[in-house]
Amino acid sequence: MKTYRAALVGCSRMGAFIDNEVPESRGAYSHAAGYEACERTHMSACSDLREEVMEQTGRRYGVPREKQYLNYEEMIDREKPDILSVATQPEQRAEIVIFAVEHGVKAIYAEKALAASLAEADAIVEAAERNGAFLNMGTNRRWDPGYDTMKGVVDSGRIGSLKTLILHQTGSLFNSASHGLDLLQRLNGDCPVTWVQAHLPDGDEAIDGEILRQDPVGHGILQFENGVTAYALNSGRGMEVETVCAQGVMTVLSEGQEWQIRERGGEDYRGRPVLVQGEFPAFEPRSSTQQLIEDLVHALDTGEPTRGGARLARANMELIFAFVDSHLRGGARVALPLEGSSHRLLRDRAPRLPRYGR
Ligand SMILES: NC(=O)c1ccc[n+]([C@@H]2O[C@H](COP(=O)([O-])OP(=O)(O)OC[C@H]3O[C@@H](n4cnc5c(N)ncnc54)[C@H](O)[C@@H]3O)[C@@H](O)[C@H]2O)c1
Repeated sequence: MKTYRAALVGCSRMGAFIDNEVPESRGAYSHAAGYEACERTHMSACSDLREEVMEQTGRRYGVPREKQYLNYEEMIDREKPDILSVATQPEQRAEIVIFAVEHGVKAIYAEKALAASLAEADAIVEAAERNGAFLNMGTNRRWDPGYDTMKGVVDSGRIGSLKTLILHQTGSLFNSASHGLDLLQRLNGDCPVTWVQAHLPDGDEAIDGEILRQDPVGHGILQFENGVTAYALNSGRGMEVETVCAQGVMTVLSEGQEWQIRERGGEDYRGRPVLVQGEFPAFEPRSSTQQLIEDLVHALDTGEPTRGGARLARANMELIFAFVDSHLRGGARVALPLEGSSHRLLRDRAPRLPRYGR
């Protein structure tokens, strides 16, 4: 079986060192750790504008000096990777992804949020499709066996049809809500959203004309085409999700530490059905990053589409910009597809220094 050669642009936290910050139970979490864990991939080159960070990555992951590049274009042209990871901030992402697919890279692992504007996201979709390149965006829960199991219960009909999704933590739109919104999309079978209504508590400071000077926090309501409603909150409960179906409820607590299901069992004093604790199906935890990479490998092997894809990543961006539009219109209902979004994230921020050890 072919070993695919991967290259990494952006060797900071999510690119290479976030494994030193997150619980070990997540397994390989950074892109570099994912390529190391996957038997079918080898990370053979890397690029960063910060030499020190790149050298540390080379040392940790065995990328020799001559395969470390300050210029990602040179790296792509010389190394011709099969898979390119783009773990920069969203402001740099579109330019790098588009260059890569135009120069022969057939699989992209792009961090979230996909890009800095909806126009950039459109350009990524167009370039990826024209060049026949696969793309998965790093919204990890889409490849998490726990959420797969939750979705499996919905799809099985065990607790009836899906009615409502409640996400207890959106956080800032690009950095954090991109994850939560993708999870809502996934749990509802990637059904299109027809409208959103949102409020950004710090939006008025963050939005400067067409420029978002900060990544604003946001919360709101999403109405899906199939009648399901999702509430994307910042309730203070942290990353917890409730999946409410016609005959039961599933809840994931404490960022995946506990999975619960309540389903019909008995009647109340008036003969109405009541919910009782059931057994959430057992599942084997596995690295979501590794699963995302294996999904790209499968696509390269077979030509079959990935679980993510550029269009779904673009739909995730559209939700972010629909939240912005709704806020600017006083919380009005914004219909999707979103027309005429001209906002763009452009922050004045320095990259973080990754933690090189636990
Ligand atoms: N999936 C997750 O759970 C998760 C977790 C953390 C971060 N992230 C995402 O990962 C991305 C990176 O986050 P981070 O905290 O590692 O970022 P960071 O800001 O610490 O690092 C970004 C790196 O990209 C490099 N870079 C920028 N432009 C470049 C270019 N043109 N060529 C080469 N290198 C370039 C910078 O020098 C820097 O080292 C963000 O989009 C973030 O939202 C995802």
